[in-house]
Amino acid sequence: MNLKSIEWKENKLIILDQTKIPKSKEFIICKTLDEVVDSIKKMTLRGAPLIAMAGLYGLVLELENKKTYKEFLSRVEFLKSSRPTAVNLKLALEEFLKIFTKEFYEKNENRILQKSALDFADTYFKNDLECNLKLSEFGTSLFSKKKKELNIITHCNTGSLATAGHGTALGVIRSLRDKGYKVTVFADETRPYQQGSRLTAFEMMEEKIECYLIGEGMTSWLMSTKKIDAVIVGADRISSNGDTANKIGTSNLAIIAKEYNVPFYVACTKTSFDFKLKSGKDIPIELRASEELTENSFLKNHKGENLIPKGTLSPIGAKALNPGFDVTLSKYIKAIITEKGIISPVIKTEIKKVLK
Ligand code: MRU
Repeated sequence: MNLKSIEWKENKLIILDQTKIPKSKEFIICKTLDEVVDSIKKMTLRGAPLIAMAGLYGLVLELENKKTYKEFLSRVEFLKSSRPTAVNLKLALEEFLKIFTKEFYEKNENRILQKSALDFADTYFKNDLECNLKLSEFGTSLFSKKKKELNIITHCNTGSLATAGHGTALGVIRSLRDKGYKVTVFADETRPYQQGSRLTAFEMMEEKIECYLIGEGMTSWLMSTKKIDAVIVGADRISSNGDTANKIGTSNLAIIAKEYNVPFYVACTKTSFDFKLKSGKDIPIELRASEELTENSFLKNHKGENLIPKGTLSPIGAKALNPGFDVTLSKYIKAIITEKGIISPVIKTEIKKVLK
């Protein structure tokens, strides 16, 4: 089953509230760009491709009332800054502005502008799903046809909740299952937002794919005691040399995988590549509120109060650092799986050759 994480319906954006999963399936109805940006910041919706798609639909809402072009551009900038590490939204907005030039904007009334923006968002959405299916097919080619049982570690959530459907790393896992492999997934819980334990486990259970939760600190033990066939993760931004920013904890996993000779794969669409950046050192890393770590403050009850009382997970007043992402150096990545094909070795020339 593929969950619909966002849906455009009757001129509104319906968002599945991912902070409530797995406990309940609740939806938020966005009627303005501000509401969409708020949802992105609060992680009601998350995952690099989904952030881009929701942002594009947010612009359709913004065009309900026409402003000056300068004001419109400042709203686009406001949207762009909602989450700084994932590049998909930034690139999508750059493409969008190639159509929404000053001349195009000023010449057309807002109904026409809205229609163009909606077409753009719908096409982006459709394309994301197609690309996920293609890359997943390529991803299955990395596994031997003779070995029918696979153990795969993944990190964060890269499934239909984070994309238009099917997913990237989880897309490869879904496609392996569809090809008859018996896949066992080990889902890193992914502190502090628990995307692995809440979202990946939820998706895998809905799909009836065998899945075990593991804490991040367990991966070395796992790789040294069980036969792990691969680690597959997604990406939030990849620089020209293949260094990959993804959810915090990914680089630990890659370094451990190298030690145990477990192939480490990144699965993503071309929209994750930022060719303006030379290396991972240039990727901005989002620093989030310390309360997310000290109190799991994203877990709220229906009144908006924290579910976990202060002082339960850490002493009141404890200091914490909470970077949302880290960068895995390309030398640890065996291959990047894309809709254009497999990039291996992960070096600048090969990336260019495959993605053209
Ligand atoms: O903070 P999040 O939940 O938005 O982080 C998501 C990830 O790091 C994913 O791995 C990445 O966006 C790829 S999703 C196909």
